[in-house]
Amino acid sequence: MLQPVPFIDFQGRRVVLSGASSGIGRAIAIELSNRGAQLLLLGRDEPRLQETKAVLTGPEHAIAVVDLRDPSKLLSLLNNHAGQQGRFYGLCHCAGMVETVPLNAIRLDKFREMIEVNLVAGIELARIVSRRDLMREDGGSLLFISSVYALAGMAGQIEYSATKGAVTAGIRSMAIELARRQIRVNSISPGLVHTKLSDNALRRLDPLRVQQLEALHPLGPGTPEDVARAAAFLLAPESRWITGTDLIVDGGYTAQ
Ligand SMILES: NC(=O)c1ccc[n+]([C@@H]2O[C@H](COP(=O)([O-])OP(=O)(O)OC[C@H]3O[C@@H](n4cnc5c(N)ncnc54)[C@H](OP(=O)(O)O)[C@@H]3O)[C@@H](O)[C@H]2O)c1
Repeated sequence: MLQPVPFIDFQGRRVVLSGASSGIGRAIAIELSNRGAQLLLLGRDEPRLQETKAVLTGPEHAIAVVDLRDPSKLLSLLNNHAGQQGRFYGLCHCAGMVETVPLNAIRLDKFREMIEVNLVAGIELARIVSRRDLMREDGGSLLFISSVYALAGMAGQIEYSATKGAVTAGIRSMAIELARRQIRVNSISPGLVHTKLSDNALRRLDPLRVQQLEALHPLGPGTPEDVARAAAFLLAPESRWITGTDLIVDGGYTAQ
């Protein structure tokens, strides 16, 4: 008997995923692999990347250890990978860093690192993955994980908001530029999701303040899987007419 084709299907499609070693990135890896994608997982920590790989569906996944503060090695890495394994269909730039500091305590060296990881590395990955010699000829899909702090202000998040706002603005121009090659570009703006990154940032706050922040999400805080399902939808060929958009996944945080 014929099996029904799933609505979101990545069979035969190769996706590069940064930030794959934990949190939202790991959940996206699991979601995409469950739907047939072949993944190249990027992160700095080999054992944690191996942990992600070990829980994926299917055998055709690879890991690569890279520090995105220095994107200079990405071209040779992705070139070699595509040469050996086949062309890319997509990219999800999920790697990110956050620091909660007031304006008067911002350190420019840390801020530059954040720009490098949250913004520059994502654009460099998109530039490489979408190259004519590395991407499938029938097009593909690029996705950036942004943040609600790109859209709504928060004390202590000036640097983070600035990097994520640049991502959300940049994807629109990228989408227009790449549409003629059938390459779609979108972002997701998540609200509060408990992960290593958010819990490190919240640890510095008064527990009452954390409760207040959670209460600002009418549906409560999200899970990495909530973001991963949205990511699978936007990356998938089935969302073929959606480009240049930012999908807010925040349990109602910005609806108020
Ligand atoms: N959690 C939330 O509430 C929330 C809300 C909105 C948006 N986001 C965004 O969601 C994304 C994932 O965050 P998360 O919450 O899942 O945090 P997480 O668990 O801390 O994951 C962050 C990921 O980024 C990678 N990364 C950080 N710096 C890197 C560098 N220099 N080079 C390579 N990889 C680097 C980390 O890899 P290593 O193993 O190398 O550390 C890790 O895989 C981020 O872009 C974040 O801004 C999160």
